Amino acid sequence: MNQRRTSSFAFALVALAAMAAVAVSAAPAEPKPIQLPAETVKLKPSSLPGYVVAQQKCAMCHSADYIAYQPPGMTVAQWTAEMTKMQHLYGAPISDGEVKVLGVYLAATYGDAKSVTAADRALSAEASAPVAKPPAPTGAIDVQALLNANACLGCHAVAQKIVGPAYHDVANKYKADPAGASKIAASIKGGSTGKWGTVPMPPFAQLTDAQIKALAEFVMKQ
Ligand code: HEC
Ligand code: HEC
Repeated sequence: MNQRRTSSFAFALVALAAMAAVAVSAAPAEPKPIQLPAETVKLKPSSLPGYVVAQQKCAMCHSADYIAYQPPGMTVAQWTAEMTKMQHLYGAPISDGEVKVLGVYLAATYGDAKSVTAADRALSAEASAPVAKPPAPTGAIDVQALLNANACLGCHAVAQKIVGPAYHDVANKYKADPAGASKIAASIKGGSTGKWGTVPMPPFAQLTDAQIKALAEFVMKQ
C-alpha cells in the first residue's frame, strides 16, 4: 500500500518533469507575456468622496472588474443611472445621495471625465458631507441618521427580511434574553454570521459604543 503510493508519487514527479521539459522545448521563439489577473482588482483612487463610498459599498457583492469592464466613455448621467440600477434592481445598500456621489466619482475616474461639471463636484461634496461628518459625540444620538449613514436600511427593514433579518424578528428572538441588547450590539460592532443564515453582516467598528448601544436599543424596540 505504502509502496504503491510512493511509486505513484514518483511517477507523478517524472510526469511533471516530462511535461515541464515539453513546455520548455515547445516554447515559441518569442514567448508571449502571460498577464495573470490581479487577485483583487482595486478601485481607481480619487479625492472625490465617491471613492470612499465605492470602497465601502461595492466590494460586498462583486469585484471592481465590473466597473473596469464598462464602456470607457460613460457620462455622469450614465454612471448615475447605473448606480440607480445597482440600488433598485440588485439591492445595493446605497442611499440616493450616494448614487449621485458614486456617479460623479465613476464618471471622473472610469468614464467621460469631461462630463463631470464643477456643479457635479460641488453637489457630490455636499451630498457626502452628512455621511463623512461624525455625529456629535455628546447629546442625543440620532438613530435614524445612523441607520441612513451606515446603510443599515439597505439590508434591513423593520417588518420583512431583505439581506439581513427584519428588525422585528431580531427583537422577538432576543426579547426574553436580558443580555439581548448587548449581544446584538456586539454583532453590529464586530459583524455577524451564521445566526440568521449564511450571508454575513459586515462589522461597524467605526461607530462609537454609544452609537452602537443606541442602534441596539432601537432594534430591540421593533
Ligand atoms: C447587493 C449587491 C451589489 C452591490 C452592493 C453592488 N452591485 Fe454592482 N452588480 C450587482 C449584480 C447582481 C450585478 C449583475 C451581475 C451580473 O450580471 O452578472 C452587478 C453588476 C454591476 C456592473 C456591470 C453592469 C451591469 O449593469 O450589469 C457594474 C458596473 C456595477 N455592478 C457597479 C457597481 C458599483 C460601482 C457598486 C458600488 C456602488 C456596486 N456595483 C455595488 C450587485 C451589486
Ligand atoms: C450588507 C448588509 C447589511 C448591512 C449594511 C447591515 N446589516 Fe445587519 N445583518 C445583515 C445580515 C446578513 C445579518 C444576519 C447575520 C447572521 O446571520 O449572523 C444581520 C444581522 C443583524 C442583527 C442581528 C444580530 C444578531 O446577533 O442576531 C442586527 C441587530 C443588525 N444586523 C443590525 C444592523 C445595523 C444597526 C446596521 C447598520 C449599522 C446593519 N445591521 C447593517 C446584513 C446587514
